[in-house]
Amino acid sequence: MRLQMRRTLTLVLLCLFLFGALIYKINNSPLVNQNGILREYLVGGQVGVARRPATRTILLWSSFFGNRRWNLPYDTLGPQQFREDLGCPVYQCELSNRHEYLPSLELYDAIVYHVAQPFPVLLPLPARRSPHQAYVFALLEPPGETKHRLSDEQHFYNLTMTYRLDSDIVWPYAHVLDTFTGAPIAPAPFPHWRQPPALGSWNDSTVASLWHTKSKMAAWFVSHCQTLSEREQLAAALQKHIQVDIYGKCGTLNCARDDPHCSEMLDTDYMFYLAFENSLCTDYVTEKLYDALQRRIVPVVFGGANYSRFLPPHSYIDANRFDSVEELAQHMRFVAADKEEYISYFWWREHYHLATFSPFCELCASLHQPSWTHRTQSYDNIESWWFNGCRLSSHIRL
Ligand SMILES: *[C@@H]1O[C@H](CO)[C@@H](O)[C@H](O)[C@H]1NC(C)=O
Ligand SMILES: *[C@@H]1O[C@H](CO)[C@@H](O)[C@H](O)[C@H]1NC(C)=O
Ligand SMILES: *[C@@H]1O[C@H](CO)[C@@H](O)[C@H](O)[C@H]1NC(C)=O
Repeated sequence: MRLQMRRTLTLVLLCLFLFGALIYKINNSPLVNQNGILREYLVGGQVGVARRPATRTILLWSSFFGNRRWNLPYDTLGPQQFREDLGCPVYQCELSNRHEYLPSLELYDAIVYHVAQPFPVLLPLPARRSPHQAYVFALLEPPGETKHRLSDEQHFYNLTMTYRLDSDIVWPYAHVLDTFTGAPIAPAPFPHWRQPPALGSWNDSTVASLWHTKSKMAAWFVSHCQTLSEREQLAAALQKHIQVDIYGKCGTLNCARDDPHCSEMLDTDYMFYLAFENSLCTDYVTEKLYDALQRRIVPVVFGGANYSRFLPPHSYIDANRFDSVEELAQHMRFVAADKEEYISYFWWREHYHLATFSPFCELCASLHQPSWTHRTQSYDNIESWWFNGCRLSSHIRL
């Protein structure tokens, strides 16, 4: 009797142990399909392109200045949203800001890091990375705004996605499109522009009538008063020669940017809009310039870019083309005084218009390029590439 009880007890204990072991195993092993997906992915990647899934997946690692969606319409976008909402020509991609969208971080084809902000503190970096996935260095700010110690991040990134034209994925503030063909023309290293018509052979009745009401010279809207480019000194020097009205924190005038009257004033009151960048960096051309181009006002640009790669010829005045502020002011006075000359700066509006595209279209297309699947690329010293694109001062004599 006692023997039988002992046996039963042993059996019960054994069952309990096995049951416990089973629960432990279930709790501690990844989901079955997760292993399956991972194996399929890795095997597929080794065998070749054909075995890889048709869509590429992109994870947004962190927010874009607090915007978890990076200004996209949804948290997760599939091929349909890439095609319909973003208008991407290559749209077989999925993108999400939810880290658990795929069962393992190694499964994403690309992970996008916003470098103008530190890595999120409470989010440890992926412990393992697949040799097939791309870590993307993404930002729209100049090098001075980088919030990462890039010397500690060597061999981390595979792709760059910035406003620089030599990035893997170019992410400009806007594009210039040919209105008749719809083709994007700029920014590009060697854009094919139409040539502006001969002076006087072309007229714009709207600008012609506005020219008569424009009684002031230049307007400048600015909120950062001390900048690396020292644009504030250029503006101050210009004020000694011509009227420059400074709106915002750094000036004496006020006009809320969202007040429509403020933008209308650029059409009706001012001859020139100062589009001075805060940093003199290669290809760094921001939305202020593009905003001005939507109005009937001639932009005066100052920055580190070669503007012929961004804008049609004879659509702007580049301060860097002048040796001194005095010569720049002289030229502005000449353009403002001559009606035909002033109107000639708007010739391009008949042929071109501005548009913005999501950079994720190009990222999606890159991930689909057959060359990409066979190439491995990583940046060993991204800092020297990134920081070398800036100068501290301009040659213009103030
Ligand atoms: C600016 O870009 C144009 C177009 O690519 C090029 O022809 C020109 O030489 C460049 N200018 C400078 C100063 O680099
Ligand atoms: C341009 O058009 C305006 C308004 O239609 C007209 O007053 C002006 O004389 C024209 N200028 C030239 C050069 O044709
Ligand atoms: C990305 O860079 C890492 C680290 O250098 C490398 O191991 C990996 O193969 C690269 N991936 C691609 C797709 O180039």
